[in-house]
Amino acid sequence: MIDLPLRTERLVLRPYQLNDVDATFAYYSHASVSRFLLSEPFTWEDACQAVEKRSQLVHPVMPGETLALVVEHDGQLVGDVMLELLAEQASIGEIGWVFNPSHGGRGLATEAVRALVGVAFERFGLHRVKAQLDARNTDSARLCERLGMIREAHLRQDWWSKGEWSDTLIYGLLTEEWRTAANAAGARNESRTTTHRTGQSLRTPSAQGPPGHPPDHRR
Ligand SMILES: CC(C)(COP(=O)(O)OP(=O)(O)OC[C@H]1O[C@@H](n2cnc3c(N)ncnc32)[C@H](O)[C@@H]1OP(=O)(O)O)[C@@H](O)C(=O)NCCC(=O)NCCS
Repeated sequence: MIDLPLRTERLVLRPYQLNDVDATFAYYSHASVSRFLLSEPFTWEDACQAVEKRSQLVHPVMPGETLALVVEHDGQLVGDVMLELLAEQASIGEIGWVFNPSHGGRGLATEAVRALVGVAFERFGLHRVKAQLDARNTDSARLCERLGMIREAHLRQDWWSKGEWSDTLIYGLLTEEWRTAANAAGARNESRTTTHRTGQSLRTPSAQGPPGHPPDHRR
């Protein structure tokens, strides 16, 4: 079992609570948010059902089980992330995320997903994390690349979604890549810290942090 909540420099990642329905509905009800998700914009009822179901996805152990967390910034729910231990191979995880566009463009999603990937490798001991997304989802593709994920495949018209065939991108990250990137970030931080001690430079925020993490799936 992992210790929750997870904390990063700016964020708290915690299990869903039943009173998260308002905040969940606030962004899942937007057509722009669901455009590349498998679901349609949420109704209120959809939001209630999702929160109720996800509130139980807290301590995945078996293949096929999922960790679902909401992301808080300054006490406000700004998005959510998920990690699924794949049914066919429990040492592989698939990640996903959805964020409220009102809080976009500040690296909050990147910071949250980075923390999730850290947990996937360091606490769950996974050897590979992957993300699958609609090839038109350029914001998510950029997020994957910020995390150091490798674009491994572009599948053409492999998914029927919302009345049309769509392409899928697959991104992946391996545990050794994560470890190498984390070590490199640690070395960089150490050198910056040393410089800082001499008063010449500041440390960069951890959002630039252990580079080398992955993103999400088409959920
Ligand atoms: C995918 C999604 C989370 C990306 O949102 P986002 O705001 O681009 O992501 P972040 O919060 O990480 O912010 C990154 C942006 O902030 C900028 N930024 C500012 N400060 C930053 C910091 N400290 N660290 C990192 N990025 C920072 C980045 O440059 C980037 O902008 P750019 O892409 O124009 O270069 C969002 O579009 C979303 O929820 N979409 C709908 C749901 C969805 O499609 N989910 C995926 C299903 S596969």
